[in-house]
Amino acid sequence: MAKSTLSFVCQNCGAAYNRWQGKCEACGEWNTLAEEDATGNVPVSIRSKRKGRTFALESLAGKSPDAPRLSSGMTELDRVTGGGFVRGSVLLVGGDPGIGKSTLLTQATSLLARAGHRIVYISGEEAIAQVRLRAERLGLSDAPVQLAAETSVEDIISTLSEGAVPRLIVIDSIQTMWTDTVESAPGTVTQVRASAQALIRFAKKTGAAIILVGHVTKDGQIAGPRVVEHMVDAVLSFEGEGSQQFRILRAVKNRFGPTDEIGVFEMTGLGLREVTNPSELFLSERDLGTPGTAVFAGIEGTRPVLVELQALVAPTSLGTPRRAVVGWDPSRLSMVLAVLEAHCGVKLSGHDVYLNVAGGLRIHEPAADLAAAAALVSSLVNAQLPTDAVYFGEISLSGVVRPVAQTPARLKEAAKLGFSRAVLPESARGEAGGDAGLSLNAVNSLTTLVAEIAARGSRRGESAGTPEKNATPARFRRGEG
Ligand code: TYD
Ligand code: MG
Repeated sequence: MAKSTLSFVCQNCGAAYNRWQGKCEACGEWNTLAEEDATGNVPVSIRSKRKGRTFALESLAGKSPDAPRLSSGMTELDRVTGGGFVRGSVLLVGGDPGIGKSTLLTQATSLLARAGHRIVYISGEEAIAQVRLRAERLGLSDAPVQLAAETSVEDIISTLSEGAVPRLIVIDSIQTMWTDTVESAPGTVTQVRASAQALIRFAKKTGAAIILVGHVTKDGQIAGPRVVEHMVDAVLSFEGEGSQQFRILRAVKNRFGPTDEIGVFEMTGLGLREVTNPSELFLSERDLGTPGTAVFAGIEGTRPVLVELQALVAPTSLGTPRRAVVGWDPSRLSMVLAVLEAHCGVKLSGHDVYLNVAGGLRIHEPAADLAAAAALVSSLVNAQLPTDAVYFGEISLSGVVRPVAQTPARLKEAAKLGFSRAVLPESARGEAGGDAGLSLNAVNSLTTLVAEIAARGSRRGESAGTPEKNATPARFRRGEG
C-alpha cells in the first residue's frame, strides 16, 4: 500500500508535515508552510518498476582527461574553493540579493572562457541584454562565454548534452529553475530540490563543474537554498555590509578543500577587485589613538589578518544595560565581560557596551578575547592604547591568558605592517622566537593587562591637569556604582 503523502513543506528549511500549521517545528519560522506534492520529488520514470541495469565498477586510481581542478585565475576565489573548481562537482554560492554574486561569477567565467575553456552561463533571473550590459561595464564583452536566459532544467540539460562537455556551468539562480518531474511552482522547496538533483546528476555524469547561485533572504520568503546545502559538494557564502565596499567569500562546507579560508574582494565601479592583503584594507581607515580601539592579530584560514576592534563603554540610562556586538560572538563578549567583572574588578553592570569589528569582517577565533578586553577597558577608562601594538590571546574563565595557535605568523604580519609591539600570552613568548622584530609584552593574566591600561588612563588624566573622574583606576574597585 502506498504511504500517505506528506504535503505541507516548510519553505525555509524543507521539513514536511501532513497537515498545515502556523509554525514550523523544525526551524521555528512562522507561516512558511506551503502545500506541495511531496511525492513528486521522485520522477515517475524512476518510481516505475523497472529492472535495474548493470554498471561497471571502477578503481580509485584512474586517469581523467583534464586536470581534476579548474583554476579560475582569481586568487581569492581559488583560495576559498581550495585551488579551483573540481571536475563533476557542484558548488552553491549563497548570499543576499545585490551582494555581487552575478558580478563575481561573470568575472570568473569570463577569465576561464578567455583561457579557452567551454563555459556556459545560464541566467534565470536576468535577460540576456542585462547580462551583456554587466559584462560591458566590467570590460569583459569579448570573453567567449556561452550565454542563455533559460529556466527549464530539462531544456538546459538537453542543450548542454550536445557538443563538448562544458568545463563550468553557472546557474543563476537555482530558485528560478523548474523541472517537469514535479508539479510544484518554481521557487518552492520541492522544485529547487528536484532541479538541483537533476543538475547534480548531470555534473556527476559528464564531469562538468556546476555553480548554483542561491539567494538567501532573511525572512525566508523564497524557498531557502538551505535544502540544497547537503546535496552539493561545497557551499560558499558571499557576505558584506550593504554600506561597505568589502565583500567576503567564505567556504561554509567544502568536500574538496578547507572551510576556514576567506577570500576578500572590494566592490568598485568596475566590478570586484581582489584584495590580496586584507590587513591593509581592514586597517586603512584606522582611528589612530582613539580610546576604545585595539588591533587584533588574527588568522583567517591560513592567512594572518590584522583587524581593528572598536569598543564603546558608556554609562547606561536603562535598567538592563545594552550589549551590542557586530562581527563577533555575543556570548564571547558576555564571557569577557564576566571575567573582567569577576577577576579584575572592572564593574560594567552600569554601562552599555558596544563592540564592533571594523571593515565588516566576522571573527570566529577565541584569540580575539585579549584584544576585545583591551578595547573595552581602554574605552571605559578613556585611555588610548599604544597605536603601534597588536593584541592576541584567549582568556579563560579564571582570567588566565591562554596561548593560541600560529603565534609566529601573527607577529610576522604585524611587523610587516609597521607595528612595533605585541601583547600576547606569556606562554607564547617562547614560540615567538627572538627574531620577531617586535617588542613583546607577555601577560599571563587579564588583571595585568587591565592594570597597565588603567595606569595609562590615570597618567593621561594627571598630565592633562584635569583629572577626569572616569579615568581613575578607583573605578575598578568593586561595588562602586
Ligand atoms: P549583482 O552581481 O547583480 O548582485 P547579485 O547577483 O548578488 O544579486 O551586483 C549588484 C550590485 O553590485 C549592484 O548594486 C551594483 C553593484 N555593482 C557595482 O558596484 N560595480 C559593478 O561593476 C557591478 C557590475 C555591480
Ligand atoms: Mg544576480
